Amino acid sequence: ATTPTPADKFSFGLWTIGYNGSDPFGGPTRPPLDVVEGVTKLAELGAWGLTFHDDDLFAFGSTDAERQTQIDRLKGAMADTGIVVPMVTTNLFSAPVFKDGGFTSNDRDVRRFALRKVLRNLDLAAELGAKTFVMWGGREGAEYDSAKDIQQALHRYREAVNLLGDYVTDKGYDIRFAIEPKPNEPRGDILLPTLGHALAFINSLERPELVGVNPEVGHEQMAGLNFAAGIAQALYHGKLYHIDLNGQRGIKYDQDLVFGHGDLQNAFALVDLLENGSPTGGPTYDGPRHFDYKPSRTDGVDGVWSSAAANMRMYLLLKERAAAFRADPEVQEALKASKVAELSVPTLNEGESYDDLLADRSAFEDFDPEPYFGGKSFGFVRLQQLAVEHLMGAR
Ligand code: GCO
Ligand code: MN
Ligand code: MN
Ligand code: MN
Repeated sequence: ATTPTPADKFSFGLWTIGYNGSDPFGGPTRPPLDVVEGVTKLAELGAWGLTFHDDDLFAFGSTDAERQTQIDRLKGAMADTGIVVPMVTTNLFSAPVFKDGGFTSNDRDVRRFALRKVLRNLDLAAELGAKTFVMWGGREGAEYDSAKDIQQALHRYREAVNLLGDYVTDKGYDIRFAIEPKPNEPRGDILLPTLGHALAFINSLERPELVGVNPEVGHEQMAGLNFAAGIAQALYHGKLYHIDLNGQRGIKYDQDLVFGHGDLQNAFALVDLLENGSPTGGPTYDGPRHFDYKPSRTDGVDGVWSSAAANMRMYLLLKERAAAFRADPEVQEALKASKVAELSVPTLNEGESYDDLLADRSAFEDFDPEPYFGGKSFGFVRLQQLAVEHLMGAR
């Protein structure tokens, strides 16, 4: 059960396994990765899908012929291996022209160029059968408060996403969009910095049903937020269209570690939620389990493939531990003692009005708040200890 198969729906970005190890302070530690080799290796490891930015597959500025050659090579590798392309995204951040953003650059010509680049890549996404189009606006932001009119930037963001929604609708493409939040890096501050900001923005769109979120573990954690809790809210709103799994240790630069190599307890809670739903039911997630991590800068090519395998193994191990946690009678009993399921009981009786509530003496006049402050435990710590023991394989 810890050997990945395509049924697990594990996918990887071409830019993840293709990361050459360069950083702002030094050059690459690994040679470039060819897409055919990448697809072949992923298939050998038991992965299901490959995702990419246009510029990962064919360099920015490629001729039409160069572009087509790479698309054909990818299609050939897909046919040979069974690897699918469930998601595609567009690079609006690497080329110097995008230093002030794509959809929200102060320069209108850049914004129009960005839209054309995305429209072209949407056609490719549809051609390859991708169902999700991710939008990570890493350069949509600013370093200087005086330099960016945030409200106008949001208007332009909205204008862009509305146009893309019209385009896929008119073309009949079976594609939904997923906005990927990140608080900072490369910009000092990025627009739509957390999944909460993104969810609010989506409500301002003309076709909100076409747009959800693609939260990344490390990005929410860079903002000090609880990732599993954020995913629970995204599921609550029906907006978890895609997910980027990786690891991050605290509020610092984007580490893109292997999944589970950051906050392991939260990764356990996340997998439990995705696989099993909330403790009292609720929606699970059946989309791609997409890894957006970076093989270590201190590893050679061998480390790329061992770390790719490690991501999938971490997920499957956590899935196993979560199943054991749910099945443990002591856990069930502890959940009951902690009244976890009682939260699913509506606070008012059926048909009860505020007049009825006001007339209910047991709710107030005769209610004794004393025991709640007199040492009566909810038992949350005991419950969490059971979770951690399952996570550690101690039970
Ligand atoms: C990051 C982001 C990016 C996006 C990717 C998809 O590490 O800051 O995760 O890798 O996920 O560009 O558009
Ligand atoms: Mn990241
Ligand atoms: Mn990501
Ligand atoms: Mn990333």
